[in-house]
Amino acid sequence: MMTILTEIVGAGDELDERQALIKRWMPLGVLLLFIVRGLGNFLSSFGMGWIARTTVKELRRMVFERYLVLPTRFFDQRSSGQLLSKVTYDVGQVASSASTVVITLIKDSLTIVFLVAFMLYLSPQLSVFVFVIAPIIAGIVRYLGVLFRRHNKRIQELVGDITRITQEALEAHKIVKIFGGREYESKRFNEINERSRKMQLRLLTATSAGDGINMLVSAFGIAGVIALISLIELEVSRVTGFITAMVLLMSPLKRLTTINAAIQRGVAAGESLFRIIDEEAERDSGTENPEQISGRVEFRNVSFGYSGGKGSVLKDISLSVEPGETLAIVGRSGSGKSTLVSLLPRFYELDSGQILIDGLSIDDYSLEGLRRHISLVSQEVTLFNDTVEANIAYGGLADSSTEAIRKAVRSANAEGFVDALPDGLATMVGDRGVLLSGGQRQRLSIARALLKDSPILILDEATSALDTESERHIQAALEQLMQNRTTFVIAHRLSTIENADRIIVMEEGRIIESGKHADLLATGGHYAALHRMQFSDDDARETG
Ligand SMILES: Nc1ncnc2c1ncn2[C@@H]1O[C@H](COP(=O)(O)OP(=O)(O)OP(=O)(O)O)[C@@H](O)[C@H]1O
Ligand SMILES: [Mg+2]
Repeated sequence: MMTILTEIVGAGDELDERQALIKRWMPLGVLLLFIVRGLGNFLSSFGMGWIARTTVKELRRMVFERYLVLPTRFFDQRSSGQLLSKVTYDVGQVASSASTVVITLIKDSLTIVFLVAFMLYLSPQLSVFVFVIAPIIAGIVRYLGVLFRRHNKRIQELVGDITRITQEALEAHKIVKIFGGREYESKRFNEINERSRKMQLRLLTATSAGDGINMLVSAFGIAGVIALISLIELEVSRVTGFITAMVLLMSPLKRLTTINAAIQRGVAAGESLFRIIDEEAERDSGTENPEQISGRVEFRNVSFGYSGGKGSVLKDISLSVEPGETLAIVGRSGSGKSTLVSLLPRFYELDSGQILIDGLSIDDYSLEGLRRHISLVSQEVTLFNDTVEANIAYGGLADSSTEAIRKAVRSANAEGFVDALPDGLATMVGDRGVLLSGGQRQRLSIARALLKDSPILILDEATSALDTESERHIQAALEQLMQNRTTFVIAHRLSTIENADRIIVMEEGRIIESGKHADLLATGGHYAALHRMQFSDDDARETG
C-alpha cells in the first residue's frame, strides 16, 4: 500500500516530508471519503425510496379514485377481494420493481458503456466477436422474460384469490360456524395457498435457471474470446485489460438480465392497475344541475337487463309519478322492484326507453345534479366504521348542524337507543355497523335519508328489520317524511303501503296491476291475493 503511494507521490528529497503529510491527512481523507460515500448512498436510497413511496401513493390514489366513479355493473362482476389486492399487493409490486430497475439501470448501464468503450479501444476485432454473442444472450433473456411475466400474472391473481377467500370467511364467520363451514373454508384456502406457493417456486426456478443459463452463455463467450486471442496474437497487456473488462462486464450484464424479471413483474402489476385506471367511468355527459326540482318522475317504455339484452329484468315499463306522490311497489321476490328504483339514480344504464325527471331525461342531468335530489334507504343497510353522527351526516351532509342531526335521529325513532349508547352520537358503530342491531342500523340509515331532505325518496324494504312496535313509530316518521316528496316505497309488509297514493304490482319485470289500495282490493286481482296472504300472516304473528 505504502509503496504504491510512494510511487504516486514520487521519490526525492521531499519524500519524507510528503510521507509525513500523507500520514497525517490520510485518516482524515479516508473519513471524508466515507462520509461522502455514505452521504451519496443515503441520498440515493432516500431519493429512490421517495420515488417509490410517492409512486405507491399516487398509484393507490389513482386506483381508489377510479373505484369511486366506476359503474355499479363493474362491481357486480368482480369480487371485492380481487379489487382490494390491487390497491395493496399490485401497487407494491410496481413500486419495488421500479426502484430496483432504476438503480440497476443507472449504475449498471453506465458501467457497461464505459467497459464496452474500453474493450473497443483495446481490440476492435475481439469486441466485434463479443458483440455477436450479445444478441444470443438477449434472445435467451427475452424468452425467460416471457416466462416470468406469465408466472407473475398468475401469482397476482392468486394473491387476489387469497384475499377474497379470507375476506369472505371473515365476513361470514357466523355462517361458517353454524353451518360447519370450517373444513370447507380451510380446504378452499389451503388449495389456493398451496397453488400460490407452487407458482412462486416455479417463478423462482425460472429466475435461478435463467441466471445459470446466462452464466453458461457467458462462459461460452469467454472460451471463444480466449481461442480468438491465440489466433490474432494480441499484446499481453491488452489481453489482460480486455479479459478484465469482460469479466467486469459480466455482473452488471447479469444484473441487467435479472432486471428483466423485475421489469416484467412491475409491468404485469402495472398492467392490471392500468386496466382499472383505464376502465370507463360512469357516463356523465349531462350538464343540468338545477338547484331545485319538483320531483315528477316518468318511466317511458323502459327495458333493462343486467347482462346486456339477454334476460330482461324489466320489460317495457311505463309509469308516471306526480310530485309529492307516494308510489308503493309490491310483488314477488325477484320481480324487479329493487331493479326498477335503482335505475332512477342511474346505478345502471337503460337498455331502451327513457326516464324523465321534471320532464328532462335523467341522462341530461349531471350525475351529481341528479343524485343530490334523490335519497335512498336501501335493502342492504351500509354503515361505515365511524361514529353514529358521521354515519348520519355522511358525505355531502357532513356540515349539517347537530340540531338537524338530532331532529333526524328523533324522526327516525332512533333517539332512544342512540342516547343509551356509551358516547351517544359520538359512539363508533364498528365495522359495517356490527355493534348495532339490524333494526338500529336501519333506523340510522333512515335518519340519514331524513337529513338529506331531498324531493325524491326511495325506500327499499325500509322497515323490514323492525319489530311491529318500532315499525309503527317509524311508519309515522316515514309518513311525515313522504309528505311533499315523490316517494317510491318497496315493502313486503302490506301494512306499510296501504296509505300510499298508488300501488303497482310487479311480476317478472312488468307492471301487472296499478291503483289505490281499496280499489285493488275490490278488483280482487293479484294485489288482493297478496293482501289476503299477508293478512293471514300478520294475524298469525300477532296472535302467536
Ligand atoms: N346485480 C345484479 N346482477 C345480475 N342480476 C341481478 C342483479 N340484481 C338482481 N338481479 C336479478 O334481477 C332480478 C330482479 O331482481 P330485484 O333485486 O330487482 O328483485 P326484487 O323484486 O327487488 O326482489 P326482492 O323482493 O327479493 O328484493 C332477479 O332475477 C335477480 O336475479
Ligand atoms: Mg329487492
